[in-house]
Order: sequence, then structure tokens, then C-alpha cells
Amino acid sequence: MNILLNGARIIDPVQNTDAPMDILLEDGKIARIGADILKSAKSKDSGKVKIIELAGMIIVPGLIDMHTHLREPGLEYKETIASGTAAAVAGGFTSIACMPNTNPINDNRSITEFIKRKAAEAALANVYPIGAISKDSAGSQLTEFWDMKEAGIIALSDDGKPVMNAALMRRAMEYAYSLGLPIISHCEDTNLSGGGLMNEGYYSTILGLSGIPGIAEEAMVARDILIAEFTNTCVHIAHVSTAGSVRLIRQAKKRGLKVTAETAPHYFTLTDEALQSYDTNFKVNPPLRSAQDVAAIKEGLSDGTIDVIACDHAPHGRTDKEVEFEYAANGISGLETSLSLSLNLISNKTLNWPDLIAKMSVNPARILNLPKGTLEAGADADITVIDPQLKWTVDVKKFCSRGKNSPFHGRQMQGKAILTIVGGDIKYDGL
Ligand code: DOR
Repeated sequence: MNILLNGARIIDPVQNTDAPMDILLEDGKIARIGADILKSAKSKDSGKVKIIELAGMIIVPGLIDMHTHLREPGLEYKETIASGTAAAVAGGFTSIACMPNTNPINDNRSITEFIKRKAAEAALANVYPIGAISKDSAGSQLTEFWDMKEAGIIALSDDGKPVMNAALMRRAMEYAYSLGLPIISHCEDTNLSGGGLMNEGYYSTILGLSGIPGIAEEAMVARDILIAEFTNTCVHIAHVSTAGSVRLIRQAKKRGLKVTAETAPHYFTLTDEALQSYDTNFKVNPPLRSAQDVAAIKEGLSDGTIDVIACDHAPHGRTDKEVEFEYAANGISGLETSLSLSLNLISNKTLNWPDLIAKMSVNPARILNLPKGTLEAGADADITVIDPQLKWTVDVKKFCSRGKNSPFHGRQMQGKAILTIVGGDIKYDGL
């Protein structure tokens, strides 16, 4: 069935478009975009075109999350590929890249192929596997990059853990660059962060919880920037959480180095003050930081230092979170709240619409070399329709994700994805 999306405001940063227009989808592709397509579509072949009226809505290129944890294989009680991709489309994401820290780790072709097969069976969002940098993400031996690339990985990361060995990271960056695979670095010096439960600062002191200093992240950001410069390769810094990291990345970009970066909605929405509740849903790695860090993250988003807003969707089960703070797993189930939290950046004037959409679609596509992130004629019909006025309340019981671990449960939101189209097919319909 061909679809005509009629009367919405269309924002496509790639084409520099921000205007009311219609879009015609045919055979899984964007056939035409322009004013008044409705008339010709009606007269031509009205029976074969489903017309969807979208006055007051905003259409953007399908959102892409470059940092999702799907827990299959091995940890299906937290998330399956089917439940994770259902959460993705419900949150407005048409494509997700999934981190390799499953059980077993995605460190070889057979796991990559398994993930792709399961994603094809689920047939919801596009799933792009990320392969591990080191075998079992143990940090000592590189995986077979080429083999995994042939099987379908689009990037490499040991996310969840840092690559502590600088020599291994150097080789990883060199080999990955020659294969056109980006390295996504989880920046954490575990000698500095070891045993820490939350941000080191005022609140860790009064709560008596051991701290993770900002420098645990920043020392590794600095190291990876240096390795990227030394090897003349590129690196993408995952989940940036501190003012110091923003400063280092800003300087690196000014010097023309090939460094890109992402942050996640919780790092510009929450501070470590929230930990006073001892609610383990606020426990995440890197940890929630200070108000000054949050301000710096917003500045980094606004001035282009931070290229991407990623969910770092990290679903966990009740038994992982409903335990003493010390033993609780790190992570936030983010796919179904990310867009609405990010829309706050528009209302608080941190970003405008095209810049926000660039960070949630165009830039992840560019960094991961995906042929996505635009509404140009001929592109895949991956589309997110947003109702910017819709008011709703986060209720984890309604999440498609198995991970109900959200610190945003009960929060009032404005703005939501109401229609998610992948390859020309409606995969989520909240109209
Ligand atoms: O909070 C986190 N959760 N940070 C990570 O780096 C890993 C992730 C997970 O896999 O749960």
C-alpha cells in the first residue's frame, strides 16, 4: 500500500527543508515530496493510496539511535530483539544500532548473524549490530573486524567496559579505520572509577556513597583523542557526561581532529541530586553529574561539540534493580522517553528543530555510514511523525520494552512520536 502523508510540517536538515508539504511513499521509498501532492495522487490512482491527514504534526527523517542495548542473546528477561525493536518504533526510532554486551558477547560473525536474523523476524525497526573490539570485551585480544563486517556490523565498541589497554585501542583504531568502521569508545578509567556508585561530589559525600570522579571519564576521552590524532583515524565518544569531556572534545574539533560525540537525555535532564532518593533507577554509568556538568552538556549540544543524542537504552529486570544500591545494575530504559525529553531542548532554547533532528537522525547516519537520515526522493521511506503538543505521562507499565527501569516514571511530557514508518510500512500507530 502506498501512503500519502498530507499537510504536516516537514523538517529535513539534509535538504534544508522546514515547511508544510506532502510526502508520497511508494514501494518502500520516498517517491515525492512537495506542496499539493494530494490532488494529483487522488486523481491518479486513489484506490491504491492511503491518505493520512497530519495537520499540526511534524514529519522528520526516521530517528536513529546509535546506542541501544538489546539483551538477546542470553539476557532475554531484560529485553529481546522483538521487545526492544517494539520499544524503538514506539519511541519514534526507525533504526537502532545495538551494543555487543549480550551473553555471549557479539564478538564473532555467528552472533552478528543471529542478531540480524532475529531482527528480520521481528520486522519492526532496522537493527544494525555493533561488534566487540576485543574478544569477550575482555580488553586483551582484538576480534576479527573484517569477518564481523562481512556479517553486518557497522561499528565497533566494548561498551559497558572501556578498552583500558592503550596499545590495543591504537591497533583497534588503525584496523577499524582502514575498514571504514567507526570505533565507539566507552571512556572510563576503571582505576579511577573502581567501586564508585555515583558522581563524586557534594551528594556522594552527604549520602555516603563512593564516588566516580569526572576525571575517570575525561582521562580516557583525552587518551582516545590523542590516539585518534596519533594514528590519524577517528573516534566516537559515547555517553558524554562531564563538562571536562565537552571541553576536550570541543578543543579536539577546533584542531580539526576526527572526533565525534554523543550524550544521552538523562545527562541533560537529571543531576546527581536525584540520588538522594536512593532509587536505583537513577543509577547509570557514567553517573548522573552536577548541575554545572548538565549546563556544559547543553552548551556542547548547542555549539555542535556534541553531534548526537543517543538513548543508551539499557533495559534491566526487577531482580537487577530492586536490590541494595551497591548491587544494582547500571542503566536506564530510554527508547520510549528519549524523544520527548529531547524536545525539551527546543522549549528551553538549547536547540532548534532542525538541529535536534540532525542529532537524532542525520548525524548518527553519517557517523555510522548508513544510507538513512533524509527525506529526499528515492530514500528509504523511514519516517517519524511527531505530535509536538501531545501531553502524556510516562508509565513504565505501558512500555513495550521489558526494561521498566525508568527514573522518568510518572513524569509529565509534551510531544511524542505518533506514527513510525519503516521502509514504507507503518510499524507504530499512535494516531
Ligand atoms: O548504565 C549503563 N548500562 N552503562 C553502560 O555502559 C552499560 C549499560 C548496560 O549495558 O546496562
